[in-house]
Amino acid sequence: MQRFSTSLSESGTLKLDEDAEDQLFDGARAAVARLIGAERDDIAIIASTTEAINQIAWWLRPSAGQNVVLVEGDFPSVVLPWLRLAEETGAAIRFASTRAAEQRTEAIAELVDENTAAICVGHVHYVTGERLDLAVLGTLATGVGARLVIDATQSAGVVALNVRETPVDLLVASSHKWLCAPAGVAFCYVSPTLADFRPPFVGWRGAASPSLFAADSVQLATNARRLELGTPAHSAGVALEAGIGYLEGFGLARIEQHAIALTGSLAAGLRDLGAQVVTPAHPNRRAAIVAARFHGRDSGELVNRLRRHGIAVSSRGDALRFSAHLFNDRADVAAALDGLKTEVH
Ligand SMILES: Cc1ncc(COP(=O)(O)O)c(C=O)c1O
Repeated sequence: MQRFSTSLSESGTLKLDEDAEDQLFDGARAAVARLIGAERDDIAIIASTTEAINQIAWWLRPSAGQNVVLVEGDFPSVVLPWLRLAEETGAAIRFASTRAAEQRTEAIAELVDENTAAICVGHVHYVTGERLDLAVLGTLATGVGARLVIDATQSAGVVALNVRETPVDLLVASSHKWLCAPAGVAFCYVSPTLADFRPPFVGWRGAASPSLFAADSVQLATNARRLELGTPAHSAGVALEAGIGYLEGFGLARIEQHAIALTGSLAAGLRDLGAQVVTPAHPNRRAAIVAARFHGRDSGELVNRLRRHGIAVSSRGDALRFSAHLFNDRADVAAALDGLKTEVH
């Protein structure tokens, strides 16, 4: 990203002419395709996850009498587009409750019926770290002819994904979490099952030939690029390609194993310290996030206290959220637990 930005600042369009700009994200699209087992043509590089979920929501436009199944407490951008749409159309929004995370899939299944237009959920929950089973959700959705829309922002880059093995209709992930890239872009996989998906919001980059600047009719690209709107953060797209390349150097399966092992021992240590661990214990039901509550302790205050020990964690709701990626190791887990021991006892 730095090399790209330096070259652009020093040489401008001498090094990045219109043809080069056209092809700039080809590498990122190919890298994403490798990452999730898709075809390059099925990948769009857009500005944010929020953008893709709004696009699919307003295209599907479930009407009164139809419903959309969501998870209570999911990331706002997974929920708000549907709530806004329901204001317009009268569609029902059904929330799978936040009761015991272990029963989440059952809670979703109870809400899905023949009037369900879409199931839209975060693959890994951004607060609880709970990982949903995409195969089960896929079966649920196809059973009733609903669309399955997945926000993989908290799983892509740390959990092996394969849309061939566990088909979804649309899968989107922002660059700035586990993909080791900065904020500024997201990738969106549009399944061939969405062949008739005509984005309700369009821009010049989604045109069949962007460099023709045709402004007299809407002629969209026939592949996933039709979802692309305006100019996104070029350097972030370049970094996304590099970030995925970096992760591939280690192997996604290895990264997943490493994160699951680290967060497993972190969760065990947190329980020993008397915390209520919110994240499911089973390795298939979690990824690289562990969330925990310490009874009677303010999570925001604990975050600040841990900072003094050199431990960076987040506060989400009343829980402390720990995240472990490939660059963390057992010593980090031990340091976090040591720091907590000092602060909570
Ligand atoms: C689950 C989840 N989805 C989406 C986002 C971000 O979405 P966007 O790229 O639209 O800001 C985040 C966090 O930033 C997140 O945790």
